[in-house]
Amino acid sequence: MNQPLTRKFTLSDLRAARQSGAKIPMLTCYDYSTARLMQEVGVPMLLVGDSAANVILGHTTTLPVPLSFMIEITAAVRRGAPLAMLVADMPFGSYAGDVKLGVRSVCRMVKLSGCDCVKLEVAAAHAELVKQLSDNGVAVMAHIGLKPQTVNVLGSYKFQGRTAAEAESIVALALQMELAGACALLLEAVPPEVSAKVVQRTAIPVIGCGAGPACHGSVIVTHDGIALTQHRPRFVPQLGDVASVLKESIAGYVQMVRSAQYPATEHQYQMPAEEKVKFLNEKDEG
Ligand code: KIV
Repeated sequence: MNQPLTRKFTLSDLRAARQSGAKIPMLTCYDYSTARLMQEVGVPMLLVGDSAANVILGHTTTLPVPLSFMIEITAAVRRGAPLAMLVADMPFGSYAGDVKLGVRSVCRMVKLSGCDCVKLEVAAAHAELVKQLSDNGVAVMAHIGLKPQTVNVLGSYKFQGRTAAEAESIVALALQMELAGACALLLEAVPPEVSAKVVQRTAIPVIGCGAGPACHGSVIVTHDGIALTQHRPRFVPQLGDVASVLKESIAGYVQMVRSAQYPATEHQYQMPAEEKVKFLNEKDEG
């Protein structure tokens, strides 16, 4: 069993990991109870991803999830894992087209959720927003490579950096984000040669999500790894089968109630004996 976190994992620790070569595990998390367990087994970095739109709310894309919902669940994760470095995803539309809107949305997220860092899916046009945020004390993780919030432009969730030119533009965007003040990068769904070049050309930590072994850490959608989703992307390891455990437990409850095995004596509250006698001997009125 891994050791629980005993002190806060910070951006300095992430930077130190980049220097030392220690690989950082990161998982998505969307609720208090799971966050508590993740802290207990020592997960240093948690991402409250807008993948909550898919795995919590059942949407087919991440686009519909509101900022207020992301703030609420990020605050819950914060309460469950006060020692993890907590990264909050800024949802679609909360930082679109307008630096002022972006700063306002991010400040709401930071103040109300207690997150340590925000993640934005970025294009070159977001450099000014990233600069404003970082100049004003917000740690920003710039999400590049496959950006699920742009699915309607991409057409599908295909991996990015397929051609030399595309790969070069991902590296250029990584450099631009570093220059703008991003504290870290999240690189999703790119070939290993692209992540290796991003790692080599930038000086900030790079967390990979389906981006190969060169990254300083790795993140996956937890539900994919523990079989709570129906389709596991090829880059996600099978960590367990929580769906089977859940289904078996729930089926057991259904069976216990149907067969009147539940509630049994040990599940019932008991009155003090003398009160019970008094109560049972009372004559019914009328
Ligand atoms: O929303 C999310 O869970 C993410 C990960 C896939 C990196 O952004």
